[in-house]
Amino acid sequence: MPAHRRPAVGTSLFARTVHGLEQVAEAELREQGCTVHAVTPRQLVLTAPAVLRPPRTVDDLFDLVLAVPDPGATKADLDALARALASAPLGVPPAPVLSVSASTAGRRTYSHLDVADAVGAVLASRLGAVYASRRDGAKPPPGAADWRVTIDASGVHIGLRGVRPPLHRRPWKVASVPGTLHPPVAAAMVRLAGIRAGDVVVDPCCGAGTLLAEAPPGTFRAGSDRAGVAAARTNAPDVPSFTADARALPYPTGSVDHVLTNPPWDRQVTSHGTFAEFVGEWRRVLRPGGRLTYLGPWDPPPGWRLVSRHPISLFGTRPVITVCAR
Ligand SMILES: C[S@@+](CC[C@H](N)C(=O)[O-])C[C@H]1O[C@@H](n2cnc3c(N)ncnc32)[C@H](O)[C@@H]1O
Repeated sequence: MPAHRRPAVGTSLFARTVHGLEQVAEAELREQGCTVHAVTPRQLVLTAPAVLRPPRTVDDLFDLVLAVPDPGATKADLDALARALASAPLGVPPAPVLSVSASTAGRRTYSHLDVADAVGAVLASRLGAVYASRRDGAKPPPGAADWRVTIDASGVHIGLRGVRPPLHRRPWKVASVPGTLHPPVAAAMVRLAGIRAGDVVVDPCCGAGTLLAEAPPGTFRAGSDRAGVAAARTNAPDVPSFTADARALPYPTGSVDHVLTNPPWDRQVTSHGTFAEFVGEWRRVLRPGGRLTYLGPWDPPPGWRLVSRHPISLFGTRPVITVCAR
């Protein structure tokens, strides 16, 4: 199998995203001067400039150590991948313990755990490390080097997590609520909403305040939730938040530029009110041309101008980010 390495560890990366946010992440990475080489479901392969601010719409980022073509679908093909890895240049520092997580796309006779164990065994022997398998749900010991293998239409990518913890785990998010939003999805909603400096941005179902924490500074943000806002105040202490029903908000008519929200879907979180009732009140508080950006299963509400729709896959559900204008 021909093995080819990309230029230098640290500038060649692969990013993992929520399925459906690949293009949003691509735009964010390009804005930072990255060159994106391949986009496949949940993944982008890229070259980054020497200084890269942590992209907000990405779940996880790995230094690309080795890229090789897809080995094929059988266990024998997986053995060939292990042999190719055994002689490929790695150029990474030794680590006492390493763990590997893997994902595969398409039909194969081996599992992602088979891939992880095959790659882990070779890496451990080459780097003089102990391999901590994740088989049977085992958690790697703290301090283990985190390796990642993906096999999809763009080939095999093997990399090492350079940034810890994973990017989706935000340091500010210390309090949570049921149904709380995945921060990279919140960041994507912020980007798609088209928020500008000076805009008034409200989340009337703010929960733990994820959307408000991800909204850019320089905006006037406020959050409210019927079930209380202790978690939002902990996570986003600079953002005013208060307890209120989303169907009766204390904002003057036409005073808000953006309603940015993740209303309850009656799955994990009970909805007090219908989507139509919520939207009626949000239309009142928005200025003409103001935008409603929401995540959920609902069609765009009638009477609004649709700006864009972005279906995503999220923990086994398939909601849509919808942006519409009043
Ligand atoms: C999916 S959660 C929002 C999660 C939030 N985006 C976060 O990141 O934590 C939906 C929220 O809507 C709130 N909620 C339900 N009915 C409401 C109503 N009538 N008015 C205001 N909030 C409501 C729930 O208390 C819950 O916090």
